Amino acid sequence: MQISVGIITISDRASAGDYKDLGGPALKDVAQKGGWQVVCEAVVPDEAARIQETIRSFSQQGCGLILATGGTGIGPRDVTPEAIRAIMRVELPGFGEVMRAQSTKITPNAILSRSLAAIVDLSLVIALPGKPSGAVECLGFVESAIPHAVALAQRTPTSC
Ligand code: MTE
Repeated sequence: MQISVGIITISDRASAGDYKDLGGPALKDVAQKGGWQVVCEAVVPDEAARIQETIRSFSQQGCGLILATGGTGIGPRDVTPEAIRAIMRVELPGFGEVMRAQSTKITPNAILSRSLAAIVDLSLVIALPGKPSGAVECLGFVESAIPHAVALAQRTPTSC
């Protein structure tokens, strides 16, 4: 199944141009190597409304999978989980559980991430940590479940 992907970097500093976005390009590279098609990309500040409108817009543009990186921690501006939960239909807790459990084998700080996955409109949205290597690692831990989850999100007939 061809998967159309949208990638959102969520960072005040990257969106202001204070530093270069490295997380979005790192995820794009993984997605393309996996045979997926990256059709939408954005860098937005840590603001719930901007995060939500970008997710909805990417979903409308046909992204079955939306990867977000950043804002999953405990900083005062980290609002990614709250922004997604306010617009999701259902959460898929297994994604966050696996990402944290596997990541704590790499760094104990992974316990600080509130990474998650949810269904918003017809898209699977996965919120990954902001550190580029952490985002790529976490995507790798859940990658094998993505095609089936996207098919279900898009209501494409699929066999288990
Ligand atoms: N997960 C993995 N696999 N590798 C990492 O380096 N960094 C952690 C964590 N998850 C990390 C990780 C750190 S240091 C933080 S603070 C949290 O993700 C939250 O990051 P965020 O607020 O940038 O999303």
